[in-house]
Amino acid sequence: MNVDLLLGLQWGDEGKGKIVDVLTKNYAIVARFQGGPNAGHTLIFENQKHVLHTIPSGIFHKDAKNIVGNGVVIDPVILTKELDNLSKHNIDYTKTLFISRKAHLILPTHRLLDAASEALKGKLKIGSTLKGIGPTYMDKTGRNGLRVGDLELDNWKEKFNNLTQKHLNLLAFYNVDLDYDLDTLKAEFFAAVTILKTLPFIDSEEYIFNALNNQQSILAEGAQGSMLDIDFGTYPFVTSSTTTAAGACTGLGVAPNKIGDVFGIFKAYTTRVGSGPFPSELFDDDGKTMSKVGAEFGATTGRPRRCGWLDLVALKYAVIINGATQLMMMKADVLSGFKTIKACTSYIYKGKEITHLPYSILEEDVTPVYTEFKGWDADLTKLTSADELPKELMDYIKFIEDFVQVPVKIVSVGPDRKQTILR
Ligand code: GDP
Ligand code: IMO
Ligand code: MG
Repeated sequence: MNVDLLLGLQWGDEGKGKIVDVLTKNYAIVARFQGGPNAGHTLIFENQKHVLHTIPSGIFHKDAKNIVGNGVVIDPVILTKELDNLSKHNIDYTKTLFISRKAHLILPTHRLLDAASEALKGKLKIGSTLKGIGPTYMDKTGRNGLRVGDLELDNWKEKFNNLTQKHLNLLAFYNVDLDYDLDTLKAEFFAAVTILKTLPFIDSEEYIFNALNNQQSILAEGAQGSMLDIDFGTYPFVTSSTTTAAGACTGLGVAPNKIGDVFGIFKAYTTRVGSGPFPSELFDDDGKTMSKVGAEFGATTGRPRRCGWLDLVALKYAVIINGATQLMMMKADVLSGFKTIKACTSYIYKGKEITHLPYSILEEDVTPVYTEFKGWDADLTKLTSADELPKELMDYIKFIEDFVQVPVKIVSVGPDRKQTILR
């Protein structure tokens, strides 16, 4: 048995949560492999909307097991709130949610360090979600981190206090004016840890290895998107983890030769939240329409998402880096009514037309070149089969498939679980 991967191919918010939920019926286990509560994965079914930050998106299927892998960073305070929401909807997670002992914990002071770091960057700020992601991964690679498994040791509070003190020293050095009450933050953290400790902690790499040997199918769920990858994204305007396929190997302990299908998700257009380059960004009425019709506001921070045309140069790059075997096109319904649809198919870079992603895609370095497509008027949101899709949309999809050389297997025509068309 193999592990299939599901990854965002753009700057996040492609609709990963929705599709993981749709696909979970085919899998015994869903496992998150990186990121943390910077993610916001939205699921809509039976007229209910759920947003998950840390918990895998298979949690609403009562037979699926859900693993928070070692590559994830966990804020116990946020996780506890997610658990509360599940309880409110009568979801019994006590036998289906498992936490890797090797996952790192986000301390309250990691969040403060994130805020201080962003404040010091001024105009060059990343636009972080301020969930403490960067500082926590820094402590992981700096070999200072506190892990879930530490909570089973008698001296974990000592480790917590030592790390907190280190952070307070750093904050004093940064000398940024932050308003916080450490005692309250600590009390909140300790209360949340007590709840976290009621969940089963596992050696997730061993668990996954055994599951594969027992022919159990596994879907690995990514967070963020390839263009936010620490190595291959638009550095430094990226997140601090490996969001691409390789991250599933390190974030779960799965060998590369155990990876099966790689499902790549992209929106029919592009969005980005936070700072950083975005060559096909729109500042006109078309962009405003995408934002409005697509309800493009961050699921974690509520910030408006920047909108623009599909960037096929960037998409092809992501497809190659991840080895995507199948694609899922999301939010096709949002483009209904546009007379003309555009996709960026090359860049002008240093005076030359190129079709690969160069070192920098900053505004001053690249100018996008567009191919135009005829739009369609039809409302797609009630369609259920691929042969009902308008010809113009099919032409757009065919062009994308030819450009990136991977088939589009799912077309999503609305946020609900049911608004999903298989091809
Ligand atoms: P994720 O982070 O990749 O899981 O994506 P988010 O949940 O942050 O953002 C995707 C947003 O688009 C959510 O509000 C979804 O409910 C919504 N959505 C997903 N698929 C579709 C679709 O096909 N059409 C429309 N209109 N909305 C969608
Ligand atoms: P999901 O999983 C969209 C962006 C932030 C910021 C940059 C760094 O819902 O797709 P961080 O908090 O990691 O320090 O922020 O990355 N970002 C996301 N954008 N979707 C996400 O997750 C994101 N997670 C982080 O806006 O620009
Ligand atoms: Mg999201």
